[in-house]
Amino acid sequence: MLFQPNMKMADVIHTNYHLLQIISRFGINLGFGDKNIKQVCQDHGIDVDFFLEIVNSYHHINYFPRKHLQGFSLELIVDYLRKSHEYYLKLKIPEIAQLLIDLTRIPDPAAGTSFQLINRFFNEYRTELEVHIQREEDKVYPYVFMVEKAYLDKAAHKDIIDRIRQYSIDDYEKEHDNVEDKLLDLKNILIKYLPVPVDPRLSQSVLFELFRLEADLRDHARIEEKILVPKVRFMEKWLFENYSA
Ligand SMILES: [Fe+2]
Ligand SMILES: [Fe+2]
Repeated sequence: MLFQPNMKMADVIHTNYHLLQIISRFGINLGFGDKNIKQVCQDHGIDVDFFLEIVNSYHHINYFPRKHLQGFSLELIVDYLRKSHEYYLKLKIPEIAQLLIDLTRIPDPAAGTSFQLINRFFNEYRTELEVHIQREEDKVYPYVFMVEKAYLDKAAHKDIIDRIRQYSIDDYEKEHDNVEDKLLDLKNILIKYLPVPVDPRLSQSVLFELFRLEADLRDHARIEEKILVPKVRFMEKWLFENYSA
């Protein structure tokens, strides 16, 4: 069953509490009473159609309205991607870092090596994720807006064609690495190699957070690769076809 505009927002969370993390990045906080999805979106100036497609595609792994999502403006799509980045870097990663500090703070001779490994892997991961996101924010998103502007202005000029030749959305797709899969090593140390005296509740909490982050990142990458990339590729193609040197 897909979420519809007239359903209560509270029921979205009752149905799948993981959606809280998606809803919050749209700027919606708890306390919406009995309002339905459409009303809450209107209160926050959110495009209800876009909101529903994002929530539904996150909730139903097989629901991915590719064509419909590609129909939304780049501004909406990129704004959502940026908010997700902010959520990862400003909220989730610091939260996991704090859990790891708590977990590895207790001196435990048997776990010393695992603790060092966990901290090393996590720090490396954090840096990789930051670099990945930085590249998208500083290089890719400005590029896609430039292409969109040229496309909307029907301005297939030499300078834009040169820019596309220098760096196109295909290049982004090729260099777009799989940041979610890299969480596997970290999860494995926690699952397989922590000795028994380590606080089990804390190690479980870290693990839950890592699984959630992984699912979220996978969904995020799906929007980048299946929505953003084809949309921009279509515009690049039009510009090339309408360019006369
Ligand atoms: Fe991203
Ligand atoms: Fe990405």
